[in-house]
Amino acid sequence: MITKEFYQNLENFIGEMEDKRNEVQVLNFVMKEIGYIPLEVQEFIADKTGLFLVTIQNAIDFFPRYKTSIDNTVEIKVCTGLGCTGKGGLLILEELEKKLGIEAGETTKDKKYRLTTQRCFGKCAKGPNLSIGGVLYNNVNIENLEKLIKTNVK
Ligand code: FES
Repeated sequence: MITKEFYQNLENFIGEMEDKRNEVQVLNFVMKEIGYIPLEVQEFIADKTGLFLVTIQNAIDFFPRYKTSIDNTVEIKVCTGLGCTGKGGLLILEELEKKLGIEAGETTKDKKYRLTTQRCFGKCAKGPNLSIGGVLYNNVNIENLEKLIKTNVK
């Protein structure tokens, strides 16, 4: 449950920001305070900063460290932008779908993992990229994917 005190602190924080359109600074504050950024908080930020809601949501999608829910499901995001798919990103996605027994956009039956895609992480030169639980991994290939899975997917 998000408290009134949190909203008051958030409003004060935004009020003291030099650049009210710095969505990353606000989102970092929210993550530090409550650990996720639900829609109601996104709308509050839009209202208090004058930013478009879509701008805030694009930033949330772009940075793997931002979460919009507090569940314990680990999100695995595979980059499907051209820079990564051109280097085998789709093979990585297919391999993960096989290993987890789900397709992109789905969550495993035990709710441990959710597999999603993202158009770009902004690290195209180091692709293929994917993130596991908000941690970004670069230069992923079928061989090191096996190791990543063994380390992170239990
Ligand atoms: S296309 Fe994958 S990081 Fe840009």
